Amino acid sequence: MDYSKVFETHCGIAHTRWATHGEPNWVNTHPQSSGNEHDFVVIHNGILTNYKDIKAFLMKKGHVFDSETDTECIAKLIKHVFDTHKDQSKLSFRELVEGVVQQLEGAFALAFKSSRFPGECVVTRRGSPLVIGVKSKTKLATDRFPILFSKDHRGASNSFFSSALTLPGDDTSTLAPVGNHKEVEYFFASDASAIIEHTNQVIFLEDDDVAAVRNGMLTIHRIHRDQDEGNELQSREITTLKMEIQEIMKGNYSSFMQKEIFEQPESVMMTMRGRVKFEEQQILLGGIKDYMQEIRRCRRLLFIACGTSYHSAIATRQLLEELTELPVMVDLASDFLDRSTPVFRDDVCFFISQSGETADTLLALRYCKQHGALIVGVTNTVGSTICRESHCGVHINAGPEIGVASTKAYTSQFISLVMFGLMMSEDRISKQARRREIIEGLKQLPDQIKEVLEMDDQINALARELYQQDSFLVMGRGYNYATCLEGALKIKELTYMHSEGILAGELKHGPLALIDKKMPVMMIVTRDPVFRKCWNALEQVKARKGQPFLICNKGDTETQQQVDKFIAVPHTVDCLQGILTVIPMQLLSFHIAVLRGYDVDCPRNLAKSVTVE
Ligand code: G6P
Repeated sequence: MDYSKVFETHCGIAHTRWATHGEPNWVNTHPQSSGNEHDFVVIHNGILTNYKDIKAFLMKKGHVFDSETDTECIAKLIKHVFDTHKDQSKLSFRELVEGVVQQLEGAFALAFKSSRFPGECVVTRRGSPLVIGVKSKTKLATDRFPILFSKDHRGASNSFFSSALTLPGDDTSTLAPVGNHKEVEYFFASDASAIIEHTNQVIFLEDDDVAAVRNGMLTIHRIHRDQDEGNELQSREITTLKMEIQEIMKGNYSSFMQKEIFEQPESVMMTMRGRVKFEEQQILLGGIKDYMQEIRRCRRLLFIACGTSYHSAIATRQLLEELTELPVMVDLASDFLDRSTPVFRDDVCFFISQSGETADTLLALRYCKQHGALIVGVTNTVGSTICRESHCGVHINAGPEIGVASTKAYTSQFISLVMFGLMMSEDRISKQARRREIIEGLKQLPDQIKEVLEMDDQINALARELYQQDSFLVMGRGYNYATCLEGALKIKELTYMHSEGILAGELKHGPLALIDKKMPVMMIVTRDPVFRKCWNALEQVKARKGQPFLICNKGDTETQQQVDKFIAVPHTVDCLQGILTVIPMQLLSFHIAVLRGYDVDCPRNLAKSVTVE
C-alpha cells in the first residue's frame, strides 16, 4: 500500500540495544511494549536504577512482564498511568510522557510511540545523549529552537507509589515549528553519526527536555523548575555539523577500523593544524588559552578516562610531570568514583573521551565539578555532553571514528596531551631545549607514521604465526608501557584472545612464571632512557626459553640480532615513540581478527560509546 496517500506524516522508532539487563535475545529487544495491544511502545538507551520498585508496583496492579529488561517497566508504566487517568481525552502524549519520566531514576534517552496517539512520537533524556536531526527542503528561518515551559507539578514523584500520579498541566498553547511540516523531517538518535547521512543540522537536547512530534511538527518542552528561573526564553541551538558523509564511509578499506588506522598520518596532522607553529616553536590550544593562568597555578592535574582514552593519559603522564612539574594523577573513571577521591577547588581535572558521552567519565566530571575543580574536556565529538559540561577544552580533531576499537583517536589524544604539556612549559627557560626536540619530533611524525603503515604486509605475516594462539603478552616499560596496555586491549577487544600488557619492571614479581617456549610474547625495546632495562627483561625472558617478538628501532641491529622476528619502527624523541610503537599493535590485532573471521568494526559484547554506568 502507498501509505503516503493515507498519512500526511509518518514516524517510527527503532533501537540497537546494548544489553544491560537481560540477554541479547528476541524478548529483550526494543521497542518494549505495554502489552498485547501495543498501546505504548518505547525504546531506551541507558539504565533505570529504580526499575525493581516500579516493576513490583505494576505487578501488584496485575501487569505481567515478558522480558528481563528494565525498559519494559516504562512501557507498562505509561499504559498504567494512561489507563488510570480520569480524563484521557484531555491528555496529550507529551504530558503523559512528562508525568511518567518523573517517576524514573537512572540514566535514559527514551522514544515513545502509541497506537492511542497515531502519528506522534515523544522523546526525552536524562543522563544519556539525545540529538535531533532537522532536515528541511528550505532554509530554516532560525538557528535557535524555542523551549516551551510548562508548570512544575512537583510532589508527583513522591506520591506515585502510594496514590495516583499527578500529571503536569499543559499551559503551553503555542506550537513552535521551525518550518512547514511538509518540508521538514526529524531524526532522533543517541549520536549524530547515526543521522549525518540525512542531515547535518542538529539540536542537542539537555537533560529533562521533552521533544514531541505531532502533525509533523516538532516542539521542545521543559517542566519549569527553580533552576530554570529567568530562563523562560531559553532555546536550543540548531548546530551545523561539519562531519561529511564521505568522512564516515569506508572508502577502499575492508573495515572502518582499517581505514582509521591508515588515516593516522592525516588525523595527527589535523590535531596539530593551526595549533603548532613549528618555526616559532609555539603551541596554541584555543579552547584552553583563557584558562592557562588558572591551570598553571593549580595544585594538581588529574586525568580521568576509560579504556583507550585512559591509556592516552598513561602514555603522556611522564612527559606532563616533566614539563609542568606538577603532580599528575591518572585514573580510570569508574575507580575514581568508587574511591570518592578527594578533589579540591584548585585542582584541574581533564576528562578524555573520544565520544564525549562515556557515562563513567561524565559522572566523574560532574563529581569534580561539584567539588569546584576546573573541568577540561578532551574529546573528538563537538557538541558532546562532556564538551558541553566542561569549562574549557581541547577538540582532538581526529575526524569521526566508527570502529568500536579506538585507534586514530588514541594517537590524536596522545598528541593533544603532548601539546598541552608544551603549552604549559612555554615560559620555562630550563625546558626550552626539550620543547624544541619534541616539537621537531611532532613535525616528523606524520611521515614516520606512514613508514610504519608501510610495514603492513610484514605485520600481517606475523599475525599468521599468531592467530591460532590462546594468549599473547605485551611487555615494555617507560614511555612504551602505555603501548603495552593499549596493544593488549586491542588484542582482546578484536581477537578475543587473552592478552595482558605487562610492565617489564614487574616481570620478576609474577609474570615471569608465565614464560616458557610456547607463550607468545611481544617486547617493546626502543632506544630511550629505559633501553638497558628493557634489554635486561629481554634476557630474562630468553633465559626462560621464551621466544619473544620485538618492536624495536630501525637501525638498531644490536637489538634485532637478539631475536628471530622483529618490527623495526623509526626512531623519534622518547616521549613520542609510543605513537610509532602502538600502530604495529593496532595492525597486528586487526589482522589477527580478520584471520580469525571476526567482525573488526563491531567486536562482540562491546559498544563504541558506553552511555551506561
Ligand atoms: C568503549 C569503547 C572503547 C573506548 C572506551 C572509552 O569501551 O569500546 O574503544 O576506549 O569506551 O570511550 P570514550 O568515547 O570515552 O573515549
